[in-house]
Amino acid sequence: MSEAGPGLPIGILAELTHRCTLQCAYCSNPLELLKADKELGTAEWRSIFEQAADLGILQVHLSGGEPILRPDLAELVGVLASRGLYSNLITAGVGLDETLTARLAAAGLDHVQISFQGARPETTEAIGRLRGSHEKKLAAARAVRAAGLPLTVNAPIHRRNIEEVELFIDLALELGAERLEIANVQYYGWALLNRPALMPPREAVERQIGIVEAARAALRGVLAIDFVAPDYYASFPKACMGGWARDAFMITPDGTAMPCHAAASIPGLRFDNAARLPLTEIWNRSPAFEAYRGTGWMNERCRGCERRDIDFGGCRCQAMALTGDPTETDPACSLSPLHAHVLALAESDAASAEATIHPRRIGGARAGELTR
Ligand code: SF4
Ligand code: FES
Repeated sequence: MSEAGPGLPIGILAELTHRCTLQCAYCSNPLELLKADKELGTAEWRSIFEQAADLGILQVHLSGGEPILRPDLAELVGVLASRGLYSNLITAGVGLDETLTARLAAAGLDHVQISFQGARPETTEAIGRLRGSHEKKLAAARAVRAAGLPLTVNAPIHRRNIEEVELFIDLALELGAERLEIANVQYYGWALLNRPALMPPREAVERQIGIVEAARAALRGVLAIDFVAPDYYASFPKACMGGWARDAFMITPDGTAMPCHAAASIPGLRFDNAARLPLTEIWNRSPAFEAYRGTGWMNERCRGCERRDIDFGGCRCQAMALTGDPTETDPACSLSPLHAHVLALAESDAASAEATIHPRRIGGARAGELTR
């Protein structure tokens, strides 16, 4: 942290619930998902959002799990709108019908992001494990556009759908989306557990990058295409969360305030709860927020590096998962001595004949419950 203390946060990712209509194996939620009885109530979320506005936060991303399963969603959107905060609904779209979309739009919702597990119905249904889900998502996307809301199509990419990138572009155009996010899966939580079944081969990743670059040039001014690179094949790491507790943080369904979605995977961090401690206190003093804020925690490789204020040393949770040390350079970085090892891991996963997956479910992965 600088001597002047942390700057002001800009955004919060509010995970309203871990409940979900789908069971995607690429989910970045933790393996220990919270049941409904652990979720914060409406009054607690209202208070958090009021405090967020007081703190100067500009954007709240309403996520999960599936946030539309919360019956109070429109009320919470209304609180955000009344305080001038930009609200973005991150949904899988199943159940987002015209009536709910109209209610959310009337409450002041600003933007909707709908994930598609595949560009083909059979892919969406196989990955999300819900028959009829693709049709429901199409209907949701049309309802969003009919309500006059801007739409982002989110395409989480892995080995099972990487050959559908061109079709995702067609789908986003057909639905009138403003933005398409081609987001290579980040391996946390369920995705890390399922990595051998999800990691794409390098050649497919390279083909995908070529398709995205060509489409970006051809569709300039028509469709914005964001690209989240696959960490394991990258040369430099992503600036995870824009830097640890630098301008954004997240709150889990039970109110735990964390610098990022996988922070609980780092042993020894102490988290505060936003239902019990003021957000300002948490932002300024929470031990978990302080742990890797700024550059003081960095090893010499990162501290002396010209990219340290670009990627902030990469992702602490990925360093933990891949090296066992959260203060290590993220091994997605080509300057890390472990970079070649990570690449080899990716290549061996991608070549793995292992095609079984653990479906995401509350209660954790079940031994013996593997599906193809
Ligand atoms: Fe980023 Fe550290 Fe790699 Fe430099 S050495 S590019 S700061 S992760
Ligand atoms: Fe925790 Fe990247 S997910 S720092």
